[in-house]
Amino acid sequence: MGNSNSSRNSSRKSSRNKISKKKSLQKLNNSESTKQQQTYDPSSSFQIPKNEQDIDRMQLEHFLFQHIWQCCFSSPIEQILKAGNAKVLDVGCGPGAWLLGTSLKYPLTQFYGIDIAPVFPKEIKPENLEFIQSDIANGIRFDDNTFDFVRMNLLSTSLQEDQWACVIEELVRVLKPGGYIEIMEPEFQFYNIGPYFSKLNSNLVDFISSTGANIHITQKIESILNMPNFQTSSQTDVNLCNTLSKLTDIHTDTRTIPIGGVHGGKIGKIYEELLGMYFENTVLDILPWYMGTSRENYLELWKLCQEEFKNYASFTNLVKFWGKKVAE
Ligand SMILES: C[S@@+](CC[C@H](N)C(=O)[O-])C[C@H]1O[C@@H](n2cnc3c(N)ncnc32)[C@H](O)[C@@H]1O
Repeated sequence: MGNSNSSRNSSRKSSRNKISKKKSLQKLNNSESTKQQQTYDPSSSFQIPKNEQDIDRMQLEHFLFQHIWQCCFSSPIEQILKAGNAKVLDVGCGPGAWLLGTSLKYPLTQFYGIDIAPVFPKEIKPENLEFIQSDIANGIRFDDNTFDFVRMNLLSTSLQEDQWACVIEELVRVLKPGGYIEIMEPEFQFYNIGPYFSKLNSNLVDFISSTGANIHITQKIESILNMPNFQTSSQTDVNLCNTLSKLTDIHTDTRTIPIGGVHGGKIGKIYEELLGMYFENTVLDILPWYMGTSRENYLELWKLCQEEFKNYASFTNLVKFWGKKVAE
Protein backbone atom coordinates (compact mmCIF):
# COMPACT_ATOMS: atom_id res chain seq x y z
CA MET A 1 0.00 0.00 0.00
CA GLY A 2 1.72 3.23 -1.10
CA ASN A 3 0.81 6.86 -0.47
CA SER A 4 0.09 8.47 -3.86
CA ASN A 5 -1.27 5.26 -5.38
CA SER A 6 -3.40 4.71 -2.37
CA SER A 7 -4.77 8.24 -2.63
CA ARG A 8 -5.54 7.82 -6.36
CA ASN A 9 -7.08 4.41 -5.68
CA SER A 10 -9.18 5.69 -2.83
CA SER A 11 -10.52 8.66 -4.84
CA ARG A 12 -11.25 6.35 -7.81
CA LYS A 13 -12.90 3.92 -5.41
CA SER A 14 -14.97 6.64 -3.79
CA SER A 15 -16.28 7.86 -7.16
CA ARG A 16 -16.92 4.23 -8.16
CA ASN A 17 -18.80 3.79 -4.89
CA LYS A 18 -20.91 6.84 -5.61
CA ILE A 19 -21.65 5.57 -9.12
CA SER A 20 -22.50 2.08 -7.96
CA LYS A 21 -24.64 3.46 -5.12
CA LYS A 22 -26.57 5.42 -7.75
CA LYS A 23 -26.70 2.28 -9.87
CA SER A 24 -28.03 0.24 -6.98
CA LEU A 25 -30.79 2.74 -6.31
CA GLN A 26 -31.56 2.88 -10.04
CA LYS A 27 -31.82 -0.88 -10.08
CA LEU A 28 -34.25 -0.61 -7.20
CA ASN A 29 -36.28 1.99 -8.98
CA ASN A 30 -36.31 0.08 -12.28
CA SER A 31 -37.38 -3.16 -10.63
CA GLU A 32 -40.14 -5.04 -12.43
CA SER A 33 -41.84 -5.97 -9.19
CA THR A 34 -44.00 -2.99 -8.28
CA LYS A 35 -45.50 -4.82 -5.32
CA GLN A 36 -42.07 -5.23 -3.72
CA GLN A 37 -41.06 -1.69 -4.70
CA GLN A 38 -43.88 -0.24 -2.64
CA THR A 39 -42.67 -1.98 0.49
CA TYR A 40 -38.98 -0.98 0.29
CA ASP A 41 -37.67 2.38 1.34
CA PRO A 42 -34.16 2.72 -0.17
CA SER A 43 -33.23 5.32 2.44
CA SER A 44 -33.81 2.81 5.25
CA SER A 45 -30.80 0.90 6.46
CA PHE A 46 -30.94 -2.84 5.79
CA GLN A 47 -28.40 -3.46 8.56
CA ILE A 48 -30.76 -2.33 11.32
CA PRO A 49 -32.63 -5.36 12.70
CA LYS A 50 -36.15 -5.15 11.30
CA ASN A 51 -38.00 -8.14 12.75
CA GLU A 52 -37.93 -11.02 15.23
CA GLN A 53 -36.08 -13.23 12.76
CA ASP A 54 -33.23 -10.73 12.53
CA ILE A 55 -33.00 -10.69 16.31
CA ASP A 56 -33.08 -14.52 16.43
CA ARG A 57 -30.32 -14.59 13.81
CA MET A 58 -28.11 -12.25 15.85
CA GLN A 59 -28.64 -14.33 18.99
CA LEU A 60 -27.88 -17.63 17.24
CA GLU A 61 -24.82 -16.03 15.63
CA HIS A 62 -23.60 -14.86 19.03
CA PHE A 63 -23.83 -18.37 20.52
CA LEU A 64 -22.17 -19.97 17.50
CA PHE A 65 -19.29 -17.48 17.47
CA GLN A 66 -18.81 -17.79 21.23
CA HIS A 67 -18.61 -21.56 20.74
CA ILE A 68 -16.08 -21.11 17.93
CA TRP A 69 -13.82 -18.93 20.10
CA GLN A 70 -14.53 -21.00 23.21
CA CYS A 71 -14.55 -17.82 25.28
CA CYS A 72 -16.50 -14.60 25.97
CA PHE A 73 -13.41 -12.47 25.28
CA SER A 74 -9.80 -12.96 24.25
CA SER A 75 -8.34 -9.98 26.16
CA PRO A 76 -6.75 -10.80 29.56
CA ILE A 77 -9.48 -9.06 31.60
CA GLU A 78 -10.99 -11.90 33.63
CA GLN A 79 -9.39 -10.83 36.93
CA ILE A 80 -10.43 -7.18 36.41
CA LEU A 81 -14.04 -8.21 35.80
CA LYS A 82 -14.05 -10.53 38.82
CA ALA A 83 -12.50 -7.97 41.17
CA GLY A 84 -15.38 -5.48 40.87
CA ASN A 85 -15.72 -1.76 40.10
CA ALA A 86 -14.83 -2.36 36.46
CA LYS A 87 -16.83 -0.94 33.55
CA VAL A 88 -17.47 -2.63 30.21
CA LEU A 89 -18.99 -1.26 26.99
CA ASP A 90 -20.41 -3.23 24.05
CA VAL A 91 -20.93 -1.02 20.99
CA GLY A 92 -23.56 -2.08 18.42
CA CYS A 93 -24.70 -4.63 20.99
CA GLY A 94 -27.88 -5.72 19.15
CA PRO A 95 -30.21 -7.75 21.39
CA GLY A 96 -27.44 -7.87 24.00
CA ALA A 97 -26.84 -11.64 24.11
CA TRP A 98 -23.16 -11.19 25.05
CA LEU A 99 -23.97 -8.54 27.67
CA LEU A 100 -26.76 -10.57 29.27
CA GLY A 101 -24.52 -13.62 29.71
CA THR A 102 -21.39 -11.75 30.76
CA SER A 103 -23.09 -9.35 33.19
CA LEU A 104 -24.55 -12.34 35.05
CA LYS A 105 -21.15 -14.02 35.15
CA TYR A 106 -19.42 -10.90 36.56
CA PRO A 107 -21.99 -9.30 38.90
CA LEU A 108 -19.47 -6.84 40.43
CA THR A 109 -18.74 -5.19 37.08
CA GLN A 110 -21.01 -2.57 35.47
CA PHE A 111 -21.94 -3.30 31.83
CA TYR A 112 -23.29 -0.91 29.17
CA GLY A 113 -24.60 -1.63 25.68
CA ILE A 114 -25.15 0.90 22.90
CA ASP A 115 -27.22 0.26 19.79
CA ILE A 116 -28.91 2.52 17.25
CA ALA A 117 -32.01 0.30 17.36
CA PRO A 118 -33.85 -0.46 20.62
CA VAL A 119 -33.65 -4.23 20.10
CA PHE A 120 -32.19 -4.86 23.56
CA PRO A 121 -34.29 -5.84 26.62
CA LYS A 122 -35.75 -2.82 28.40
CA GLU A 123 -37.05 -4.34 31.65
CA ILE A 124 -35.85 -7.86 32.25
CA LYS A 125 -32.08 -7.62 32.62
CA PRO A 126 -29.47 -7.87 35.38
CA GLU A 127 -29.07 -4.79 37.63
CA ASN A 128 -25.47 -4.27 36.54
CA LEU A 129 -26.49 -3.86 32.90
CA GLU A 130 -27.70 -0.72 31.15
CA PHE A 131 -28.66 -0.23 27.50
CA ILE A 132 -28.49 3.06 25.63
CA GLN A 133 -30.05 3.80 22.25
CA SER A 134 -27.58 5.91 20.30
CA ASP A 135 -25.89 6.21 16.92
CA ILE A 136 -22.16 5.68 17.42
CA ALA A 137 -21.45 7.71 14.29
CA ASN A 138 -22.31 10.72 16.49
CA GLY A 139 -19.73 9.75 19.10
CA ILE A 140 -19.94 7.81 22.35
CA ARG A 141 -21.55 9.75 25.20
CA PHE A 142 -19.09 8.77 27.90
CA ASP A 143 -16.08 10.60 29.32
CA ASP A 144 -12.51 9.82 28.31
CA ASN A 145 -10.90 6.88 30.14
CA THR A 146 -14.16 5.40 31.48
CA PHE A 147 -14.04 1.71 30.55
CA ASP A 148 -11.79 -1.22 31.39
CA PHE A 149 -12.99 -3.14 28.35
CA VAL A 150 -14.67 -1.97 25.13
CA ARG A 151 -15.84 -4.34 22.44
CA MET A 152 -17.46 -4.01 19.03
CA ASN A 153 -18.56 -7.00 16.96
CA LEU A 154 -19.98 -7.37 13.49
CA LEU A 155 -20.38 -3.78 12.30
CA SER A 156 -18.56 -4.10 8.96
CA THR A 157 -21.77 -3.97 6.92
CA SER A 158 -23.23 -1.16 9.08
CA LEU A 159 -20.44 1.41 9.18
CA GLN A 160 -19.36 3.43 6.18
CA GLU A 161 -15.69 2.90 5.36
CA ASP A 162 -14.84 6.49 6.34
CA GLN A 163 -16.57 6.10 9.76
CA TRP A 164 -14.20 3.38 10.97
CA ALA A 165 -11.35 5.65 12.01
CA CYS A 166 -13.66 7.96 14.02
CA VAL A 167 -15.49 5.07 15.66
CA ILE A 168 -12.27 3.28 16.66
CA GLU A 169 -10.92 6.62 17.90
CA GLU A 170 -14.01 6.95 20.11
CA LEU A 171 -13.64 3.39 21.43
CA VAL A 172 -10.02 4.12 22.36
CA ARG A 173 -10.93 7.53 23.83
CA VAL A 174 -13.43 6.05 26.31
CA LEU A 175 -11.05 3.22 27.22
CA LYS A 176 -8.96 3.62 30.41
CA PRO A 177 -5.18 3.48 30.00
CA GLY A 178 -4.37 -0.18 30.57
CA GLY A 179 -7.86 -1.20 29.39
CA TYR A 180 -8.51 -3.52 26.45
CA ILE A 181 -10.37 -3.00 23.15
CA GLU A 182 -11.64 -5.97 21.16
CA ILE A 183 -13.13 -5.99 17.66
CA MET A 184 -14.43 -9.02 15.76
CA GLU A 185 -15.54 -9.11 12.14
CA PRO A 186 -16.08 -11.79 9.51
CA GLU A 187 -13.53 -11.76 6.72
CA PHE A 188 -16.36 -11.77 4.18
CA GLN A 189 -14.36 -14.01 1.85
CA PHE A 190 -15.77 -17.45 1.16
CA TYR A 191 -13.43 -20.25 0.12
CA ASN A 192 -14.08 -23.44 -1.90
CA ILE A 193 -17.46 -22.22 -3.04
CA GLY A 194 -19.38 -23.31 -6.11
CA PRO A 195 -20.63 -21.09 -8.95
CA TYR A 196 -24.09 -20.44 -7.50
CA PHE A 197 -22.89 -19.20 -4.14
CA SER A 198 -20.13 -17.31 -5.86
CA LYS A 199 -22.77 -15.45 -7.90
CA LEU A 200 -25.01 -14.75 -4.91
CA ASN A 201 -22.13 -13.62 -2.72
CA SER A 202 -20.53 -11.38 -5.32
CA ASN A 203 -23.86 -9.58 -5.73
CA LEU A 204 -24.10 -9.20 -1.97
CA VAL A 205 -20.55 -7.85 -1.73
CA ASP A 206 -21.18 -5.41 -4.61
CA PHE A 207 -24.40 -4.24 -3.04
CA ILE A 208 -22.90 -3.71 0.41
CA SER A 209 -19.89 -1.93 -1.11
CA SER A 210 -22.31 0.33 -3.01
CA THR A 211 -23.71 1.51 0.34
CA GLY A 212 -20.24 2.85 1.27
CA ALA A 213 -19.33 0.04 3.69
CA ASN A 214 -15.96 -1.69 3.41
CA ILE A 215 -16.99 -5.29 3.75
CA HIS A 216 -13.32 -6.31 3.88
CA ILE A 217 -12.42 -3.98 6.75
CA THR A 218 -10.53 -6.82 8.50
CA GLN A 219 -7.86 -6.64 5.76
CA LYS A 220 -7.43 -2.93 6.37
CA ILE A 221 -7.18 -3.21 10.16
CA GLU A 222 -4.81 -6.13 9.81
CA SER A 223 -2.55 -4.36 7.34
CA ILE A 224 -2.41 -1.25 9.52
CA LEU A 225 -1.62 -3.34 12.61
CA ASN A 226 1.07 -5.21 10.74
CA MET A 227 2.82 -2.22 9.19
CA PRO A 228 4.60 -0.05 11.73
CA ASN A 229 5.48 2.45 8.97
CA PHE A 230 2.15 2.34 7.21
CA GLN A 231 2.10 5.33 4.84
CA THR A 232 -0.96 6.81 3.28
CA SER A 233 -2.33 10.17 2.26
CA SER A 234 -5.90 9.20 3.13
CA GLN A 235 -6.98 11.12 6.24
CA THR A 236 -9.17 8.17 7.27
CA ASP A 237 -6.19 5.84 7.27
CA VAL A 238 -4.00 8.38 9.05
CA ASN A 239 -6.61 8.71 11.83
CA LEU A 240 -7.03 4.95 12.10
CA CYS A 241 -3.27 4.55 12.22
CA ASN A 242 -2.81 7.25 14.90
CA THR A 243 -5.51 5.71 17.04
CA LEU A 244 -4.07 2.24 16.71
CA SER A 245 -0.66 3.58 17.68
CA LYS A 246 -2.15 4.34 21.13
CA LEU A 247 -2.53 0.59 21.52
CA THR A 248 0.02 -1.95 22.58
CA ASP A 249 -0.02 -5.72 23.10
CA ILE A 250 -1.98 -6.08 19.85
CA HIS A 251 -3.19 -9.49 18.77
CA THR A 252 -5.00 -10.81 15.71
CA ASP A 253 -6.63 -14.23 15.74
CA THR A 254 -8.51 -15.96 12.95
CA ARG A 255 -10.98 -18.83 13.24
CA THR A 256 -12.45 -20.84 10.39
CA ILE A 257 -16.17 -21.49 10.08
CA PRO A 258 -17.25 -24.35 7.81
CA ILE A 259 -20.42 -23.95 5.76
CA GLY A 260 -22.92 -26.80 5.47
CA GLY A 261 -23.52 -29.90 7.58
CA VAL A 262 -22.06 -32.47 5.17
CA HIS A 263 -18.51 -31.14 5.40
CA GLY A 264 -18.79 -28.90 8.43
CA GLY A 265 -20.75 -31.02 10.95
CA LYS A 266 -22.92 -29.24 13.52
CA ILE A 267 -21.09 -25.92 13.22
CA GLY A 268 -21.36 -25.97 9.43
CA LYS A 269 -25.06 -26.81 9.64
CA ILE A 270 -25.76 -23.92 12.02
CA TYR A 271 -23.71 -21.49 9.96
CA GLU A 272 -25.61 -22.50 6.81
CA GLU A 273 -28.84 -21.92 8.78
CA LEU A 274 -27.56 -18.44 9.70
CA LEU A 275 -26.74 -17.68 6.08
CA GLY A 276 -30.26 -18.83 5.23
CA MET A 277 -31.75 -16.41 7.78
CA TYR A 278 -29.65 -13.65 6.24
CA PHE A 279 -30.49 -14.36 2.59
CA GLU A 280 -34.13 -15.38 3.18
CA ASN A 281 -34.95 -12.54 5.56
CA THR A 282 -32.38 -9.81 6.22
CA VAL A 283 -31.56 -8.94 2.60
CA LEU A 284 -34.69 -10.40 0.98
CA ASP A 285 -36.19 -6.94 0.42
CA ILE A 286 -33.11 -5.64 -1.33
CA LEU A 287 -30.84 -8.24 -2.95
CA PRO A 288 -33.29 -9.52 -5.62
CA TRP A 289 -33.76 -5.91 -6.77
CA TYR A 290 -30.07 -5.28 -6.81
CA MET A 291 -29.59 -8.41 -8.91
CA GLY A 292 -32.44 -7.39 -11.21
CA THR A 293 -34.25 -10.65 -10.61
CA SER A 294 -37.55 -11.72 -9.07
CA ARG A 295 -37.76 -12.77 -5.46
CA GLU A 296 -38.72 -16.29 -6.64
CA ASN A 297 -35.62 -16.63 -8.86
CA TYR A 298 -33.45 -15.26 -6.08
CA LEU A 299 -34.81 -17.79 -3.56
CA GLU A 300 -34.32 -20.53 -6.15
CA LEU A 301 -30.67 -19.43 -6.44
CA TRP A 302 -30.28 -19.66 -2.65
CA LYS A 303 -31.73 -23.23 -2.78
CA LEU A 304 -29.11 -24.13 -5.41
CA CYS A 305 -26.42 -22.70 -3.12
CA GLN A 306 -27.63 -24.96 -0.31
CA GLU A 307 -27.35 -27.98 -2.64
CA GLU A 308 -23.88 -26.79 -3.58
CA PHE A 309 -22.72 -26.69 0.05
CA LYS A 310 -23.20 -30.51 0.08
CA ASN A 311 -20.55 -30.90 -2.62
CA TYR A 312 -18.03 -28.24 -1.67
CA ALA A 313 -16.10 -28.04 1.60
CA SER A 314 -16.81 -24.29 1.78
CA PHE A 315 -15.62 -22.12 4.63
CA THR A 316 -15.08 -18.58 5.75
CA ASN A 317 -13.08 -16.86 8.52
CA LEU A 318 -13.76 -14.72 11.54
CA VAL A 319 -11.07 -12.30 12.64
CA LYS A 320 -10.60 -10.84 16.11
CA PHE A 321 -8.29 -7.96 17.04
CA TRP A 322 -7.50 -6.92 20.56
CA GLY A 323 -5.07 -4.58 22.18
CA LYS A 324 -4.29 -2.60 25.33
CA LYS A 325 -4.42 1.20 25.61
CA VAL A 326 -1.01 2.52 26.53
CA ALA A 327 -0.61 4.30 29.85
CA GLU A 328 -0.60 8.11 29.44
C1 LIG B 1 -24.83 -7.51 13.00
S1 LIG B 1 -25.48 -6.75 14.43
C2 LIG B 1 -24.29 -7.26 15.64
C3 LIG B 1 -24.86 -7.28 17.03
C4 LIG B 1 -23.89 -7.70 18.12
N1 LIG B 1 -22.71 -6.86 18.15
C5 LIG B 1 -23.50 -9.14 17.99
O1 LIG B 1 -22.32 -9.43 17.84
O2 LIG B 1 -24.38 -10.00 18.06
C6 LIG B 1 -25.06 -5.05 14.20
C7 LIG B 1 -25.73 -4.16 15.23
O3 LIG B 1 -25.16 -2.87 15.10
C8 LIG B 1 -26.19 -1.91 15.26
N2 LIG B 1 -25.76 -0.68 14.60
C9 LIG B 1 -25.62 -0.46 13.26
N3 LIG B 1 -25.22 0.79 13.04
C10 LIG B 1 -25.09 1.39 14.26
C11 LIG B 1 -24.72 2.69 14.69
N4 LIG B 1 -24.39 3.62 13.79
N5 LIG B 1 -24.73 2.98 16.01
C12 LIG B 1 -25.05 2.01 16.91
N6 LIG B 1 -25.43 0.77 16.57
C13 LIG B 1 -25.43 0.45 15.26
C14 LIG B 1 -27.41 -2.57 14.58
O4 LIG B 1 -28.62 -2.00 15.03
C15 LIG B 1 -27.22 -4.01 15.01
O5 LIG B 1 -27.91 -4.30 16.20
